[in-house]
Amino acid sequence: MSTRPRTPGHGAPAPGKLPITDLVSMKASHSPIAMITAYDAPSGRLADAAGADVILVGDSAAMTVLGHDSTVTATMEEMLVLTRAVTRGANRPLIVADMPFGSFQISDELAVTNAIRFVKDAGADAVKIEGAGTMLSRVRAIVGAGVPVMGHIGLTPQSATALGGFKAQGRTAAKAAELARDALALEAAGCFSLVLEAVPSPVAAKITELLSIPTIGIGAGPDVDGQVLVWHDLLGLYNGHAPRFVKQYANLSTEIQRAVEAYIGDVRERRFPEEVHTYGMPANELAAFEGELMSAAAKAPHSAPLPG
Ligand code: KIV
Repeated sequence: MSTRPRTPGHGAPAPGKLPITDLVSMKASHSPIAMITAYDAPSGRLADAAGADVILVGDSAAMTVLGHDSTVTATMEEMLVLTRAVTRGANRPLIVADMPFGSFQISDELAVTNAIRFVKDAGADAVKIEGAGTMLSRVRAIVGAGVPVMGHIGLTPQSATALGGFKAQGRTAAKAAELARDALALEAAGCFSLVLEAVPSPVAAKITELLSIPTIGIGAGPDVDGQVLVWHDLLGLYNGHAPRFVKQYANLSTEIQRAVEAYIGDVRERRFPEEVHTYGMPANELAAFEGELMSAAAKAPHSAPLPG
């Protein structure tokens, strides 16, 4: 029998990490789950310090951070870099890596390979995949490999074109019933929680009631087990059109621009740097340095002051 002490690894949460099973207890005790996206170490650190329960390293990064106009361009390599950075910044929150378009649709095997990369190479606690239907088999395969999976239905941005654009889903009885069936199937496939994006509040409420796993809403009304917002939307950092469901809590774009303009003004007007921002040296060392420059110039007046 091994006497080696157990070190934290996958399957043994790191010290201070919120146990994934606590999310179900939070649902049971009606204690809302606060989830937010983050894409780098500072945002991970700040989300943790603010008390987030779950951080999603969303493929929304393709739009918010990388400047694309859709999420489908996000690559595994980009998402791995961002996830690694977030895991360096955040400690307590569960970190869920969003599997980018193309990283899980092709086969169960590819989905498992890429999910494992997020855990092994980037330190994620779980992955999120969009869709149901044929994606149920991916969920079963990834969960079977030991990686927790968060599902995502409703408006799934990776398939926005097929859904007819960025618009609310499940607004007819038939479509709402289909969403409920998908939600139950994702739970049965092994998802530990489910994002419901842009679905009518009563539909999200019913799905939340039907499931024993927690639902996390974005544009899904108040009767879900938790909420998620995109970092840049919440902080007023995204330049594009914000969906109706966004609540903006700060306008950091204005604040950042004001600070950068102040810096540029200080540089141009020579107000920066000030004494406090500069390094001095002992007067005797400075005098010796000037002496060396003068004697070098006297010996070779037309060459560089200090030949090597
Ligand atoms: O990529 C993302 O940020 C998301 C959230 C909107 C849930 O999927």
